Formats: sequence, structure tokens, C-alpha cells
Amino acid sequence: MSSTQGVSAKEEIKRAADIVELISQYVQLKKRGRNFLGLCPFHSEKEPSFTVSPEKQMFHCFGCKKGGDIFAFWMAYHGTTFVEALKDLAERYNIPFDEARVGAREKRAALKRQQLLRVNEIAADYFFNALTQGHEGAKAREYLSTRQIPQGIVEDFRLGYSPNSWEGLTRSLEREGVDLSVAALAGLVVARKGGGYYDRFRGRLMFPILNVKGQVVGFGGRALGQEMPKYLNTSETPVFHKSEVLYGLHASHQAIRSSGRVVVVEGYMDMLSLWKHGFKEVVATLGTALTEQHVRKLKGYTSEIVVVFDSDEAGKKAVLGSLSVFLNHGMVGKAVVLPQGHDPDTFVNQEGVERFTSLVEAASPMFDFYIHKAMALGDGSEEKVRVLEEMLPALAQLRSYAMRALYVRRLSDAVGLREEVVWAELKEYQKRSRGRSGASPRLTEKLSGARVSKKYNRDIHFLNLIVHHEEARQRLADTDWTLLLSDPVMQRLAKVLMDRGRSNDVDMDTVLESIQDPEVEKELREIMVMPSFYGPDAVETAIGEFEQKIEEIKLAALIREARERGDMVALNEALKMRARLQAPNQTNS
Ligand code: CTP
Ligand code: MN
Repeated sequence: MSSTQGVSAKEEIKRAADIVELISQYVQLKKRGRNFLGLCPFHSEKEPSFTVSPEKQMFHCFGCKKGGDIFAFWMAYHGTTFVEALKDLAERYNIPFDEARVGAREKRAALKRQQLLRVNEIAADYFFNALTQGHEGAKAREYLSTRQIPQGIVEDFRLGYSPNSWEGLTRSLEREGVDLSVAALAGLVVARKGGGYYDRFRGRLMFPILNVKGQVVGFGGRALGQEMPKYLNTSETPVFHKSEVLYGLHASHQAIRSSGRVVVVEGYMDMLSLWKHGFKEVVATLGTALTEQHVRKLKGYTSEIVVVFDSDEAGKKAVLGSLSVFLNHGMVGKAVVLPQGHDPDTFVNQEGVERFTSLVEAASPMFDFYIHKAMALGDGSEEKVRVLEEMLPALAQLRSYAMRALYVRRLSDAVGLREEVVWAELKEYQKRSRGRSGASPRLTEKLSGARVSKKYNRDIHFLNLIVHHEEARQRLADTDWTLLLSDPVMQRLAKVLMDRGRSNDVDMDTVLESIQDPEVEKELREIMVMPSFYGPDAVETAIGEFEQKIEEIKLAALIREARERGDMVALNEALKMRARLQAPNQTNS
């Protein structure tokens, strides 16, 4: 945040607003201890885990982990941008707000995006001309004919060739008056150490990647021979996000809408081959599994997604990974597996489009597909247990209770286990995984500790202590506190806090805002929203106990080492020290 206008309006709104009052307009909240609790508006749940903290002016859902301040709530609830949220809330709380000044920041970002799109556009033309006209392009034209890609496809998809030279594109961009630092940001050229730039794509068949508006957002470049890497892609830029983009969608969206389904393949060539054969309801991910963002995008066009896998094994795994994504979005996800050794490109070229179409038409819903493959290995009790275990993560990720109930029933039918057994396993699994990714409030509030692993429980207590009690953080900062923590996210969070050393003006809100790592951020928010486990009288004792625990861990290491070395003197010494350390405690435990 640099623009002062934006920050001050934001601060003023924060001062004027009350998060409980605001959220109450949209979510029924009940007071529970210091916090307010309600049913989360961002995921479906039967038991409330959506928590609003008036003290921290924050919300946090212990179920789906969404959270933040009033702006985060407004943006998520109303689906607005940050600037829109500022505007809406400024109006609501009567705060004067100079939109133009904040707008300037957004405008700069929009300008940058425009510049990137323009460079990409020029580059796409350059590559296209090199392929279709240049004499060097002959090699690439020949390659295309061996891949059976006709001229019509080259034109419709603006395929191209990047000549095998270091400065071809660079010079051409210069001639067009392009700022080469923008071209570098677009991933088209690379800065030389000694100054100047050189072409990133050389001697490759170029696939421009267009968004649905037909703008060139990035490129994939395929080697013509065996050079590595086979494909070189644009890395992330402000206009290109690999996990969101769907190759071919600009051309295929109408066919998708009218046919009511979309076939998802993995490769550029797969997409183009199917298109060439007249199978037009197709898009390609860039070699990755289908993500939540992909599904979201496709949802606007159809509710049936057929994913094509090259082989059984990879397919089976991928299906489990995406099953819950589909179900949560109310989408039908189906799976097709191609015969061994084929990908969609080779299959449709050799076997024809009718056979491909019948495979798509016969595709099974992912759940049945998975169960069928899994049970094909045998239906002994060992297999049943394995199928159940593999399915649990997918079931646990279902956001709707009704959906979960439906699939618990279907799974129990399919594998021949009683429904109660599946439910029990699922509950058990959910408890276990919660322990890993942040505890549910009741679990930690009760401090039962029985379900959460002992070590993780210690992590939670330690962080709770140093987040809520400044003096504890200061006192423990210089100790070997890292020895106490087992969870990597908790480790990172503790480091962020402890790096503030002995300074006593550490403001958790500021810390929270400065954290870049989303996992760490969620964890801190969760701890801030949760009340302190320690009353005023318990803080001193807790610090002492943690200090002692650190000494015990160190001594245990000394003892182990001494044993290993066979150093009896050192061993005796260490054992005595441990006895002394534990002595005063034994009486009152
Ligand atoms: N891919 C990539 N980087 C690689 C390999 C693959 O980005 N080094 C992506 C590309 O988008 C590619 C897709 O993964 O289209 C599928 O990879 P693969 O199956 O290996 O390639 P094909 O599409 O079959 O390419 P071809 O038929 O040209 O060999
Ligand atoms: Mn291929």
C-alpha cells in the first residue's frame, strides 16, 4: 500500500465500522464467549464455525479458513474488488473518499496489462510471419505437416515459429517502439547481464495462448526435435496464470455451449487435432490437472466436463484429486481413458473421430470410474479398506452435507461396507486432518488434546501464548524455542513473530498484514481470533513450563549423544541434570 489516499480512507473506514454490526446484516451471529459465531456464508455447514471477533475486528471461518477484515468480508461476500469495497464501505460509513486517487493505482495496473497484451500481440504476428513466410520457417512448416496440422489451423490458432536467432524478436520489438523491459515482463525476452536483451524462444513452434476475448496472454513453444525442454511456456505474468488458462477456449466456447459438454485434454496438439477432426467442444490445460479455477471458468458454458486421461494409473489418481472440485460446483465430471500408448492426438489421427466420440459418449462419471478401476483389482477386505482410505480425502472435501451423505451411501454400496463404518472412518479422517491444518475451535478450546497429536497441541499452545501475550513473546524470543515446534507452518509463523525480538510495540494487526505466505497468514488469524488459553495468572507459569521443556529437549539430546558415544561421565552428568530439572515439578503434578 503506497498511495496515501487509499490507506487513509481505509483506516478511517476501519475506525468508523464495526465488523460485528456489518456482518450481522448478512449472517446471523450469536455471542459465544468473546466472539460471535454463525453459519459460514462461504461454505455449507451445519455447525457454526464462522467466527467474528469484535476485539480484533476480524472474521475467520474455522471450516473453510476464509477470513480477514471488513474489506475482505465485503469483497468475498459481494464479489467485489478491493477498490469497489472501499467505495461501498466509504459510502456506508460516510467517509469522504477520493476515488480518483485510488483509481490511479488500478489504472496503472490496467495500463501494464494493456502493454503486456500489446507486446504479446506484436510477438504473435512476428512468429506467425516467420512460420508462414520466412524461409527459415520451412523447417517448422515441414514439422507441422508431419504432425498433420493443416494451414487452416495455423491461421485460426495463429501458430508461429520463433527463428533460431538471439535477437530476431528483440530487434523487431524495438522497431515497433516497444519498451523491452515490458517484453521481459511478458517473458518474451531476457535481460543480458551486461545490458540489452535476447530472445527467449528460439527455433520453436509457437502456440499463442489466447484468453476467451481472443487476446494473446502467453505462449507455448515446442521444440522441433529432441531438444529439451520439449515445451517452453510463458511463466506467470500479470496476464498469464498457468493454472487458470484453458488453451483453445477462445475458439471452442460456442461449440461447448451448444453441445452442452466440454472435453478437457492436456496438450496443445491434442486440442488442435480434435478440432481439426471437427470435434470442437474441446480445451486443453497446459499439461496440468484440472484446477478449481478451470472448473469455475468452464461452469459458465456447460455443466458436463469430460476429462481425457492417457492411461489408467495416472487417470485413477487424477480422478480422485478432482472429484470433489466437480461435485462442489454441482458439475458432472466424467473420465475417459485412452488405450495404452495413446494420447488424444495420436488416437484421433489413427482411429478417427467417430471412435473418439463414442469413447466420450460412454464416459463414466468420475466416482463410478474410480470405484470400477479400484475394485477391478479385487474385492477382498484389504482392497475394500484401501478404496475406502483413498476415497476419504475426496469425501471430506465435499462442502455440502447432503452430497457427502449421498456419496457415503454410494461408496458403502459399491465396496460392500456398512454405511456406519464409512461415516465413522470419515469422521476420524476429518479429525486427523484438522489436526494438521489448524484445529477447530472446540477442539482446542477444550484442550482435550486427545485427538490432536501431542506435538501439534504444543505448537498451538506455544503460538497462542506468544500471540496473545507480548511479554511471553519477548521472554521466549532469545531461547531455543524452535525445538518446541513440530509443524512447519507454525515454525514459520513463530519465526515471523520472534524476529521482532525484544521490541515491545509489536502490533499483531500490522504483522498480519505484512505476512505474504497465505498459510502462515491463516494460521495467525486463526490464533488471533481464538481467545487466549492463558489467564493473567497463568502466563508466568506457562513461560516457565516452555522454558523447562526446551531444557528437557536439549538434555534429552545430550543424553542420547552421550549414550551413543559411550561417554559414561557425560551421561551421568546429564541424567542428574534432568532429575534436578524435573524434581520440583513432580510434587505438584
Ligand atoms: N508441457 C509443458 N512442458 C513440458 C511438457 C509438457 O508445459 N516440458 C505441457 C504442454 O502444454 C503440453 C502438455 O503439457 O501440450 C502435454 O504434454 P505432453 O503429453 O508431453 O505433450 P503433447 O501435448 O503430447 O505434445 P506432443 O504431442 O507435441 O509431443
Ligand atoms: Mn502428443
